[in-house]
Amino acid sequence: MRSNGCGELRTKHISSNVQLCGWVDRCRDHGGVIFIDLRDWSGTIQITVDPDQGKELFATAENLRNETVLQITGKVRSRPDEAINQKLKTGEIEVLADGLQILNPVIGNLPFTVSIHDDEPIKEELRLRHRYLDLRRERMNQNLRLRHSTIKAARDFLENDNFIEVETPVLTRSTPEGARDYLLPSRVCGGEWFALPQSPQLFKQLLMVGGLERYYQVARCFRDEDLRSDRQPEFTQLDLEMSFMSQEEILELNEKLIAAIWKTVKKVDLKLPFPRMTWHEAMARYGTDRPDTRFGMELIEVNAIFQASGFKVFSGAIAAGGSVKCITVKNGNNTLSNVRIKPGGDIFSEAQKAGAGGLAFIRVREEGEIDTIGAIKENLNDEQKKILLKKTCAEPGDLILFGAGKTEVVNKCLDRVRQFLGQELGLISKNQGKGHWNFLWVLDFPMFEFNTEEKRLEALHHPFCSPHPEDLGDKSEWQKTLPQARAQAYDLVLNGLEIGGGSLRIHDPELQSQVLKTIGLSSQQAKEQFGFLINALQMGAPPHGGIAFGLDRIVMLLAGEDSIRDTIAFPKTQQARCLMTQAPASVSDGQLKELHINSTWIDQEEIHNDMDS
Ligand code: AMO
Repeated sequence: MRSNGCGELRTKHISSNVQLCGWVDRCRDHGGVIFIDLRDWSGTIQITVDPDQGKELFATAENLRNETVLQITGKVRSRPDEAINQKLKTGEIEVLADGLQILNPVIGNLPFTVSIHDDEPIKEELRLRHRYLDLRRERMNQNLRLRHSTIKAARDFLENDNFIEVETPVLTRSTPEGARDYLLPSRVCGGEWFALPQSPQLFKQLLMVGGLERYYQVARCFRDEDLRSDRQPEFTQLDLEMSFMSQEEILELNEKLIAAIWKTVKKVDLKLPFPRMTWHEAMARYGTDRPDTRFGMELIEVNAIFQASGFKVFSGAIAAGGSVKCITVKNGNNTLSNVRIKPGGDIFSEAQKAGAGGLAFIRVREEGEIDTIGAIKENLNDEQKKILLKKTCAEPGDLILFGAGKTEVVNKCLDRVRQFLGQELGLISKNQGKGHWNFLWVLDFPMFEFNTEEKRLEALHHPFCSPHPEDLGDKSEWQKTLPQARAQAYDLVLNGLEIGGGSLRIHDPELQSQVLKTIGLSSQQAKEQFGFLINALQMGAPPHGGIAFGLDRIVMLLAGEDSIRDTIAFPKTQQARCLMTQAPASVSDGQLKELHINSTWIDQEEIHNDMDS
């Protein structure tokens, strides 16, 4: 149907006869000559329709609507100097049409304009409802191409290094990755359910037991969790697993994989090896396990200064086993007003959203004199003031913000405030913003964390991570040592976003059983849920480990987008809905019956109607 792509034509094609297909990007009538910008996946070219080429042809061109699908024939010619468009790759040429056929007209109104000449923001709801139209836009075209190049670069790198792609089941049992499962009822096995995989974790481990040694998969994962701009209910992992490799070797291989992707997609040489930090250090210095290390303003623990002070809010928090930590905002005394830090202010509100009751502060005035709203100042002697200023590196003109209470809450609060101020005060300078790549490995995560609601330990990553041998001691001590042990687990963080996570796995069946016991599974439950894994580990499982990267997040960062929805062809909304197909949707009673399901859902509208009547 066509000889070339619209965007492929260049001056070397001048005088060639071409046949093109595409969409009308826009149409302009310039005093008797009509210019059509014709667009396809490869780009846009100007088509000139001259009345001299025939009345019928001209009449068709006169009535064209944007987004009509056309086929045109014509001759490529150069544009006059004054008409050259440097912004278009095809801007030096045009096609003089001698034939024009409408392949499909546009019926009804378009919900938004698609044109490359129009960069008005469009409401996301409209874009998602008419995603097929949104995908025609330049930005989405670029993002999907970039996604493809990313996957291709990863495949090329891995396949050159003897990895093979293996698909794992989507109809499976629940894998404990920490989120809620999407469940699917079985028709044939009444009363029983499949779970969609939260990740291919157990299957990839079983592939290692199966002797595959080097596996990868571009794997779809499903998690029913609260959604954010970097989380989708259905997302894609670049998933890897390897046998007979140490943690060091795995980290090195994955750095090279990431470097190969960046080299192909961004033409950037990343500096290897990536910096590393232990989980403990990350929590202490940044209050989070995925620190944005593009700017300072680190958290400083000041327990020693305040534990004996008369300022009860602080000393009480420390006495109760918590902490007092602070961040120093350079020049903050001059830039941040009390109104913003006190209840009702935007900075206060960030702290509050993280669970903090308040945000104490100190303003550092001239000569190092400090000023506070509460009673902090009165409760510090000159020596303590001096130590505080030294420890926080605070100078006249700075502002010190404090969090006090349970260490987790203090960390969460100051992390949130730090990130907010980092953006707000422009601390991530232009050359460190989008396009700057601050990678960081976070290592040595704890194996478990305490779930206060369920009053039990739960795995911080998942219960298949191998503990550090030096934390474990002898088999007889496992019960005592395991709960405190560090995992041989690692996350890769880029500009404050977790883009990947993995670990060495447990290949000793006894240790695996002990870990399952530690998270509160009885041996009966462990057997029911993970009997197949324990069995496999008893039949010659090699030492193995792996990682999974969040592909959508990587593409988002590479594309400079703020949401992973812009890197996925058909994403879901915050309510986990597809606005285009209107999924999820109700099904017939017959279908439910066949699946042995009786719905307890009561339509909210029905309740309202009932109440009205
Ligand atoms: P984890 O749960 O850390 O590890 O997931 C790996 C990476 O997947 C991305 N990710 C998501 N991306 C978009 N939407 C989501 N809802 C979402 N959840 C996670 C993140 C994350 O770093 N089986 C282990 C991996 C392993 O141990 O090998 C796992 O799934 O970028």
